[in-house]
Amino acid sequence: MHKKNDERPPTYRAVITGTGSFAPEKILTNDDLAKIVDTSDEWITTRTGIKTRHITNDDETTAFLAIEASKRALASAKLDAKEVELIIVATITPEMVFPSTASFVQRALKAKKATAFDLSAACGGFVFSMSIVQQFIESGRYKNALVIGAETLTKITDWTDRTSCILFGDGAGAVLLEQSSDGRKGIIYSTMGSDGDRWEALNCKAYGSRYPSSKKLDDPKKICMQIKGREVYQQAIRRIVETVNKCLKKCNLTVDDTAMFISHQMNARIIESAMKRLKVPKEKAFVNIDEYGNTSAASVPIAFDDCVRAGKIKRGDIVILVAFGAGLTWGANVVEF
Ligand SMILES: CC(C)(COP(=O)(O)OP(=O)(O)OC[C@H]1O[C@@H](n2cnc3c(N)ncnc32)[C@H](O)[C@@H]1OP(=O)(O)O)[C@@H](O)C(=O)NCCC(=O)NCCS
Repeated sequence: MHKKNDERPPTYRAVITGTGSFAPEKILTNDDLAKIVDTSDEWITTRTGIKTRHITNDDETTAFLAIEASKRALASAKLDAKEVELIIVATITPEMVFPSTASFVQRALKAKKATAFDLSAACGGFVFSMSIVQQFIESGRYKNALVIGAETLTKITDWTDRTSCILFGDGAGAVLLEQSSDGRKGIIYSTMGSDGDRWEALNCKAYGSRYPSSKKLDDPKKICMQIKGREVYQQAIRRIVETVNKCLKKCNLTVDDTAMFISHQMNARIIESAMKRLKVPKEKAFVNIDEYGNTSAASVPIAFDDCVRAGKIKRGDIVILVAFGAGLTWGANVVEF
């Protein structure tokens, strides 16, 4: 029986009402990288699709990027920051060990009403956060939420390792989700998955409790990101294909019903191969890795914002956001924009 004190209206949906993104001004080209490690524009372009990446200078931090992206998302949603009720920052390159990067965002935006915390699921962090917000908004717990993916991966990059330093860039993307009961569907479905057995495939050991700051960590293999590129490559294709197929099946959708597939931008060849297996035509598989490189949790919301601003996604379109990353983690959101 519906209790008197149960205020949950059953028909709330989490609708995206604003998007924004921000990338640092400084650009590192493949030719610039060829001066640091033994590589070439030709190798990087053909193996990854990356041409440039935006990189932070010493003064630009993860919170700075997150704040700029958030301001743009709030402006596009026309919502005053003081009305924001929940802020989640998905990041693996936080401002500090603690407090959360979200605390700095809340402070800068003067979003006094908001609850703010970070979520750590690496490149899957943004779609995981969207999934959490969907639950909170549908249950009536929050009326709106600012979900941000923000990273400064170039600050934990091993610039002597040519197999990894060519891949990453910095940036942030944000979306504002609001509670709606007017028939718009918003986030239709979310799914998440993890495989902790494969944690070693992608990791950064410093300065967690296993490698605390009291130990002298001068080995770049401990201080910086380490990747097992081949293993990640194969797992990523497998999980992206499985996850998108699950979304289509659960939502009773076909590729034709979907306007755009926005994958985490980790390697253009991974996206191409996964989309080919899913029979997604090229024009529906968004790629902007050529400009940004891999920005981990920031890549999906940056791509989403790029799509919106370029008019590639219109109101009412069905869009599938899918991501894969360290953990391992993978997940997706099916969204009616
Ligand atoms: C890293 C990645 C681009 C490597 O591409 P690949 O086609 O798998 O290449 P391989 O690792 O098989 O290396 C092929 C050769 O290129 C060399 N190579 C590696 N990096 C190079 C570079 N930047 N420039 C030139 N040569 C390079 C290798 O040493 C190897 O040489 P060898 O055959 O003489 O041993 C690819 O595996 C990838 O994108 N993986 C996923 C990346 C990832 O983990 N992203 C983060 C997760 S979200």
